[in-house]
Amino acid sequence: MKRVLTGIPVTAEIVRRFVAGETRDDLIRVAQTLLDSGRMVSVDFLGENTTDRAQADAMVAEYLSLINDLAALERSPRPGIEAPPVEVSVKLSALGQALPVDGPAIATENLRILCTKAAQADVWVTVDAEDHTTTDATLATVRELRREFPWLGAVVQSYLRRTERDCRELSGPGSRIRLCKGAYREPHEVAFQRAAEVTDSYLRCLEILLRGAGYPMVASHDPVPIAAAEDLAVETGRGPGRFELQMLYGIREAEQLRLVGAGYAVRVYVPYGSQWYGYLTRRLAERPANLTFFLRALVSK
Ligand code: FDA
Repeated sequence: MKRVLTGIPVTAEIVRRFVAGETRDDLIRVAQTLLDSGRMVSVDFLGENTTDRAQADAMVAEYLSLINDLAALERSPRPGIEAPPVEVSVKLSALGQALPVDGPAIATENLRILCTKAAQADVWVTVDAEDHTTTDATLATVRELRREFPWLGAVVQSYLRRTERDCRELSGPGSRIRLCKGAYREPHEVAFQRAAEVTDSYLRCLEILLRGAGYPMVASHDPVPIAAAEDLAVETGRGPGRFELQMLYGIREAEQLRLVGAGYAVRVYVPYGSQWYGYLTRRLAERPANLTFFLRALVSK
């Protein structure tokens, strides 16, 4: 697990803060610990921008084994929360969306295979949001497959100017939408650039989703949206079984446990696999303090 990130060698210790490990066994151990603590999980097998069909097929095979292993985990049911405690998150670019010939159709077919298996195993599937050039194709795939798998979830990013409109369209009955701020570098024409604008947009989208008829998944570590979600849930009479608070593995662990203690449905997004480089770069870019953590870990080696 060694590689160089922005000129600094990345140690296993750094990677392990944000990534469950390179193997499925590593992941399963972490997932069971999270489930035992009352949290739910969404697992991401790392990999994106698949460039050939064989890679996409290998990704599908790993996800099928993953769903199998996740289905065998011990679940601890919590009163009032009926959502499956295990979910997989998947990037369509990893399933072949960017392949030069028929990419979106191949990714849709691969996702259908995963959803069929997941439905048998009582595991949910949510499709990650990638850069803005993929948003239309990704939402089209989700819309198509929701006819067969109405529980299929999608992610929207509040930094995109279009997202408020998307939330209005996606807030109908049964619609499972994960709202995050967005983690890619996007141009001014399509995305808000200032942090305050992104948070404001998040709050507007949150209100649409929580007042809507779907199942919102509030994915943020920011205390402002989390408090707003708590207030809106009270105001709209949404119990813990009708929305989720979600965070990334390795971030604000104490807050995750506080929210579980307060009775909320909390899901942790847990990545694993050897292709952690792109994921880790986005996590470090989000917060300068992570770089300090990273350097401290290096010095103490
Ligand atoms: P923000 O970055 O403003 O952070 C607010 C506070 O949270 C910080 O002040 C700090 O206290 C804490 N914090 C945030 N990030 C931290 C970090 N890395 N380390 C330590 N503390 C940190 N993006 C995307 O483009 N597509 C996707 O599909 C997804 N999927 C997804 C799923 C889930 C469950 C989550 C939680 C997030 C995503 N994301 C994502 C990532 C998301 O877009 C965003 O980049 C991060 O969640 C950071 O944004 P926050 O809302 O946490 O706020």
